[in-house]
Amino acid sequence: MLHLLEHPLITHKLTQIRRKETGTKDFRQALDEIAGLMAYEISRDLPVTEIEIETPVSTCKTHELAKYIVLVPILRAGLGMVDGITHLIPTAKVGHVGMYRDHDTLEPKEYYAKLPPCIPDAVVMVLDPMLATGGSASATITYLKEQGAGQIRLVCIVGAPEGVERIERDHPDVDIYLSALDERLNEVGYIVPGLGDAGDRLFGTK
Ligand code: PRP
Ligand code: URA
Repeated sequence: MLHLLEHPLITHKLTQIRRKETGTKDFRQALDEIAGLMAYEISRDLPVTEIEIETPVSTCKTHELAKYIVLVPILRAGLGMVDGITHLIPTAKVGHVGMYRDHDTLEPKEYYAKLPPCIPDAVVMVLDPMLATGGSASATITYLKEQGAGQIRLVCIVGAPEGVERIERDHPDVDIYLSALDERLNEVGYIVPGLGDAGDRLFGTK
């Protein structure tokens, strides 16, 4: 299922990172802030267990998170979303999957993976600002399922309809969270209007 998180604060910051004149420092900060704002919505229905605690006044039945939360940024650009979310979920563990798109074929290539051992028991949130063809996210989700992940959410900032369709087709069990659903992909696989190459803008590599 697709969840579109169109909040005025998110849209305002998204405008900042879409502007071509926004430099690395401001891009990094706004991306982090958008991820932080999305954290509230993507965690809204996390499972909780009832526990009993002592307050200074009496006993109290309350709840705490029932599952490990594992964030899996897709390298590189997904790294720009980690701090914003761990600010709200500080106990989250972080795994990493390295994936890049071959410029000619647009096929994803995996080059690195390191995950915490609790993956099979966790709610796993895959992070990547861009969902273009959906190839990188789909391959990452397939890999995580092979490692035993059962509850996976995909959290992206800007998506193209083609990417959403790909995930819905390949992984109908995965909820997709986006801040914006853009028009389309262009002939070289970039999201239109999009924000350009997220990894390069985040790390200043172009
Ligand atoms: C970008 C982006 C996604 C991928 C999206 O990464 O961060 O991972 O492209 O495209 P897709 O949906 O068509 O797979 P890129 O391959 O440019 O690597 P980088 O983050 O290292 O720059
Ligand atoms: N990857 C990006 O970083 N940007 C796009 O528009 C498409 C893929």
